[in-house]
Amino acid sequence: MPQDSLTITDNRTGRTYEVPVAEGTVRATDLRQIKVADDDFGLMTYDPAFMNTAACRSAITYIDGDRGILRYRGYPIEQLAERASFLEVAYLLMVGELPTRQQLDTWTDTVKYHTYVHTNITKFLEGFRYDAHPMGMLLGVVGALSTFYPDAKHIDDPANRELQRVRLLAKAPTIAAFAFRHSRGLPFVFPDNDLDYIANFVNMTFSIGGRHKPNKVLQRALEILLILHADHEQNCSTSAVRAVGSSHVDPFSAVSAGIAALYGPLHGGANEAVLAMLDEIGDKKNIPAFIKEVKGGGGRLMGFGHRVYKSYDPRAKLIKKVADDVFAQTGLNPKLEIALELERIALEDEYFAKRKLYPNVDFYSGLIYQAMGYPTEYFTVLFALGRMPGWLAQWEEMLLDKDQKIARPRQIYTGKDERPFVPIEKR
Ligand code: SDX
Repeated sequence: MPQDSLTITDNRTGRTYEVPVAEGTVRATDLRQIKVADDDFGLMTYDPAFMNTAACRSAITYIDGDRGILRYRGYPIEQLAERASFLEVAYLLMVGELPTRQQLDTWTDTVKYHTYVHTNITKFLEGFRYDAHPMGMLLGVVGALSTFYPDAKHIDDPANRELQRVRLLAKAPTIAAFAFRHSRGLPFVFPDNDLDYIANFVNMTFSIGGRHKPNKVLQRALEILLILHADHEQNCSTSAVRAVGSSHVDPFSAVSAGIAALYGPLHGGANEAVLAMLDEIGDKKNIPAFIKEVKGGGGRLMGFGHRVYKSYDPRAKLIKKVADDVFAQTGLNPKLEIALELERIALEDEYFAKRKLYPNVDFYSGLIYQAMGYPTEYFTVLFALGRMPGWLAQWEEMLLDKDQKIARPRQIYTGKDERPFVPIEKR
């Protein structure tokens, strides 16, 4: 009997089955042979929210939730955050290796070449209300890019896929900055390709009547935050990109699905929700009552908890360090005191310890973004800018994976049995 296998006895029939084990998994389709009768569909797995299901094999990001480890293509996140640029990390995620100096220079120039958007995009943005949520604007405009680049639907052509991936990586900051400018009623500032990726984004966002006076410490802090958000294996938004991309739609449409998923308060929207929570608490003296309410099921401690990390999210540790650099420049965000006290109390509380709830990437990031001058509703847009190379790398890996086909899960039907139509006069 091969070692790497399970022997399953179906007590309903007394039959036994050998099911191979590979890479710590059994193939769900290997269970279909387990039947009670010949016309039986066969055994399925039931796994709502995919709590224990590997949907793919991936070489992009490795997470060890118990040991708080995060690596992009094998490189520890701590080293990348300290020593790499965002475009270097984007190249690493999307190509698979750190670029040489010449590869990075070529990559940087290629991205710069694609930072402009069709001027009709500004008309899209002008169509939104002044108070439209920027994630709604980003979602709408990125999806609309598929109509400006109809060639993007030729996803079977590797060179075309590479062009579209670069287009989206390059244009995302431009669209994000334009969304900010629209919300402020400010004229759009088009890309200035004499600036690097981060400086260009900051300039398009904040410049008033001339080039924005850069604060190099804040720009590097923003770059580190984008690096920390660049990928995170099969999170909700990446799974959305993969599932939608599996229908072979263009990458703009697939990534707009990821933006929609990230918009949710349980995912990328949590950094915005943390600030709302801190505003609701208002003062350190109100923390015990707030914690009591959370423990009573009255809501969640936003920015805490994670499906994978059952120890401190390594990104949260690094973000706390970035916070020190930022607040040294901007002055302490008064809400930081509440956040630190909230973390201290929660980490000592059995309710959170028992459920292995620790600060995640969203707990401190919003405080930093606010200190940098971004409005709360814009925080998740910054998360999306960081996650863009990850979504694009995962999309490409999915298309190249011979195991993959169009995503189409099964179900357990719980509805009515067959019944005859009832004419309306008899209902
Ligand atoms: C991100 O997947 C990724 O990688 C995501 C991300 C990425 O980089 O892509 O890391 C980014 O989305 C980080 C998460 C941001 N979201 C939040 O901070 C929102 C608050 N956190 C949660 O809602 C929650 O922790 C999740 C959504 C992050 C994880 O939820 P799970 O794994 O489905 O856990 P669960 O909802 O099943 O909760 C398990 C228990 C429950 O209690 P019991 O029913 O067992 O009594 O823990 C409780 C939950 O009520 N719980 C919380 C809590 N999170 C879970 N209780 C209070 N506050 C919380 N934050």
